[in-house]
Amino acid sequence: MITLPELPYAYEALSPVISAETMRTHHDKHHAKYVENTNKLAAESGLDGRTLEDIVAEAETQKLGKLFNNAAQAWNHAFFWDCMTPERRDPQGELLSAIAGAFGDLAGLKKKFVDEGANHFASGWVWLAADGADLVVLSTHDAGTLAHDKRTPLLVCDVWEHAYYLDYKQDRLSFLERWFDTLADWEFAEAQYEAARGRHAPWTFAEAA
Ligand code: FE2
Repeated sequence: MITLPELPYAYEALSPVISAETMRTHHDKHHAKYVENTNKLAAESGLDGRTLEDIVAEAETQKLGKLFNNAAQAWNHAFFWDCMTPERRDPQGELLSAIAGAFGDLAGLKKKFVDEGANHFASGWVWLAADGADLVVLSTHDAGTLAHDKRTPLLVCDVWEHAYYLDYKQDRLSFLERWFDTLADWEFAEAQYEAARGRHAPWTFAEAA
């Protein structure tokens, strides 16, 4: 069994960029349903008791589409909550140097990240990831995930409409710009960047106690 992780902050902590109403619906309804469906479908496939990372990988290998979609969404959302903070600070140290090398500066990364997310067709996720020391911005469709990718995710933003429609209607671009400027957790991204270079293990979905 996997369990729905609690948010690492209050529902209203990210307001006004993301409202408490959006957070309640997104976490308590959407994410909860992905977790519930994962447990049900994993049990049917004999994969219960495995880590969520294993379930995602096995579902993909065995072409269990419904299980993959729900398990990857369960993983992506848990990762997404940890990519946000109400106490943002700018990136520092080696990650800041890598951003300068790859994108010129933080504004250059913002443009690339926001463009990627705003131009992504339909549902998906926009990621900042590291391939070793190299940084890359990419998007994945629907439940597409970096849960078991050779690239290490540093940050992700959800660009499914349920992530922003209550607050921004169709204006995904404004959501992404405000998200990048105010909510992205660079301390988290720096820890993941360390993991990408083998200094410690990357983020994993919390196992049930
Ligand atoms: Fe979502």
